[in-house]
Amino acid sequence: MLGGTEFVGRTVTEAALARGWQVTVFHRGHHAPPQGATALRGDRTAPGGLTALEHGTWDAVVDTWSGAPSTVGDTARLLAGRVRTYAYVSSRSVHPFPAPAGLAEDGPLVEASPDDGGDTDYARAKRGGELAALAAFGDHALLARAGLILGPYENIGRLPWWLTRIARGGPVLAPGPRDLPLQYIDARDLAAWLLAAAERGLGGPYNLVSPPGHTTMGELLDTCVRVTGSSAELRWTAPDRILAADIAPWTDLPIWLPPGELHDTLHAADVSKALTAGLRCRPIADTVTATWAWLRTLDGQAPQRADRPRMGLDPQREAEVLRGAA
Ligand SMILES: NC(=O)c1ccc[n+]([C@@H]2O[C@H](COP(=O)([O-])OP(=O)(O)OC[C@H]3O[C@@H](n4cnc5c(N)ncnc54)[C@H](OP(=O)(O)O)[C@@H]3O)[C@@H](O)[C@H]2O)c1
Repeated sequence: MLGGTEFVGRTVTEAALARGWQVTVFHRGHHAPPQGATALRGDRTAPGGLTALEHGTWDAVVDTWSGAPSTVGDTARLLAGRVRTYAYVSSRSVHPFPAPAGLAEDGPLVEASPDDGGDTDYARAKRGGELAALAAFGDHALLARAGLILGPYENIGRLPWWLTRIARGGPVLAPGPRDLPLQYIDARDLAAWLLAAAERGLGGPYNLVSPPGHTTMGELLDTCVRVTGSSAELRWTAPDRILAADIAPWTDLPIWLPPGELHDTLHAADVSKALTAGLRCRPIADTVTATWAWLRTLDGQAPQRADRPRMGLDPQREAEVLRGAA
């Protein structure tokens, strides 16, 4: 596991350990590794930083890198011949924006280079990472193109923000329509699929999110109310009113995107290939319950990645908009 101490990597590491696998995590040491994993230290961006990986063999490696593609290439080349499968946690962002509803893995891809060593935008970084994994591992590169990822350990602040907001109670600006279909993956389902796929020796790209409409905005927020035991009152508000109030979908109101091309891009992927290859998605109630249980162990201090924007709507702004909408 390259990384393995934060959100997605940590979930994958714990899932592998739970299967009884021997797991090595390679990281800088900024976060504690899951108990039971063997830790190797090194900095992927520093000269000589991969020394700890120069010896050893593994059945599979999982890489979540989202920076420069050349960093993926460096580890992939170093490990080639000593590892069977290189599983790269990629993203559906590898498709140019906007992606039409129903887009499958064979849709158009952004132009990117596996050798790009600089600061590049997220879409090119992920596509470049895919190309770097493919260059070293060919058919044994497994490209898991995730969409929105939720679940315990989330350090982006999407579901944690909704849970914290709803737990605070009072009138909540609930972005409609209530029956808006959502598509996401619980990191634990991503981990289970990825490990099983690596074990089977699968390769190539897979969209790794739930079927579209696995839940709805209404079911998600109702579940947050129920699980937190809050007296919050959801005030369903039409998309046009939210947009007219200059509230940013996705960041001010995490997870939510108004119907249209943004929503099609992020909540309407074709996932039949992964479903045929065994993907199972737990119900939203499980994701919300487990994420809330985890948050409650943290005294309200949810982790936040420094390299991603803070999520959530300012409470004063929310109150103003609700007053206007009342
Ligand atoms: N969130 C979403 O909705 C979403 C959607 C689609 C795809 N994705 C993908 O999901 C993945 C998220 O992965 P993640 O949560 O595991 O986070 P990550 O940022 O990929 O991994 C962080 C890990 O990398 C280690 N690390 C960081 N810099 C390092 C360096 N220079 N050298 C060695 N190790 C280093 C950290 O270890 P220490 O700090 O312990 O040293 C930590 O274990 C990404 O691939 C992202 O593109 C996310």
